[in-house]
Amino acid sequence: MAENNDKRELGQFIPLHYHYNMLNDAARMQGFKAALDLAVQPGAKVLELGGGTGVLSFFAAQKAAKVWCVERNPELAATAREILKLNPNGEKIEIVEADAFEYLPPEPVDVVICEMIHVAMLREKQIPVMDSFKQRYLEKFGGPLPKFVPEAFIQAVQPVQQSFEFEGYYAPSILFQDPTVIQGKTFDLAPSAVYQMASYQDPLPHTCSWSGTIKIDCSGIVNALRFVTKNILTISLAEQRTVDWFSQYLIVPVAEPLIVETGEVIAVEFAYPAGAPLSALTSTLKVSLAQSADAGLYQEAANPERHARLMT
Ligand SMILES: C[S@@+](CC[C@H](N)C(=O)[O-])C[C@H]1O[C@@H](n2cnc3c(N)ncnc32)[C@H](O)[C@@H]1O
Repeated sequence: MAENNDKRELGQFIPLHYHYNMLNDAARMQGFKAALDLAVQPGAKVLELGGGTGVLSFFAAQKAAKVWCVERNPELAATAREILKLNPNGEKIEIVEADAFEYLPPEPVDVVICEMIHVAMLREKQIPVMDSFKQRYLEKFGGPLPKFVPEAFIQAVQPVQQSFEFEGYYAPSILFQDPTVIQGKTFDLAPSAVYQMASYQDPLPHTCSWSGTIKIDCSGIVNALRFVTKNILTISLAEQRTVDWFSQYLIVPVAEPLIVETGEVIAVEFAYPAGAPLSALTSTLKVSLAQSADAGLYQEAANPERHARLMT
């Protein structure tokens, strides 16, 4: 029982109704559909870790010869089997009710899909699952590793002034934002600063941390930070483009808001294990006005050109 609660708290358990919201998320669906159309070659063997309703396996199955779709939640595994019967090429997909931390396919695969992604790489187990999979896959089959979808991620943090007033009720709480919607209650005080980049082919970071500075370009009150996770779903060298998908933005209130003027520099610090609960981020988050000796550092941390290249 304690173990079950733990798994739920850590974002491993996503109720069925939330999966229908994910199906309804056009940016997510269109991104994965386009990425899998590029990444999966005709006749490919594909593995999906954390298949949910089976939709990403369905996209892959339009070209693949065979897809193993691993889902640990029995209700979801059963639902996916039923839904796939209604869709073309559903018969190519084998739903495997198993733990992605333990399962390996019976033969080498060309592509591995894994979408256990929460913004800031918190809560869900994307990084630990991928880490475990790569190690066990190499032990069983040797190299090379399959192609991964997503291929990489970039994480950034941005100081903002956020209204936490809800019809007269003031509640400085964690908020999630749809990245495709203009947020009228959020005021950007500086460009976001990239704090982490990783490719799933390379050794993955177990910790997400940053200690850096950001130059304010608009006066205001830093009462929150926005965390941004951009997932590079696939990189097409032939077409010289990437297919990207932004996780929902995360707004984290700052314990002691700072009044800032244009040109001032703030220092931001945090460190949390990948897959940890949101409190692991909030409990280590520190925001302060930077000492003048640090001021030069902001150029590396939040160089607007570098940021624009990475985050657009
Ligand atoms: C964010 S959902 C994504 C579902 C689906 N891939 C999609 O894109 O709609 C993550 C899924 O991973 C499953 N999951 C989480 N941990 C797992 C594990 N250790 N083994 C297998 N499945 C797992 C969850 O039950 C959930 O269905």
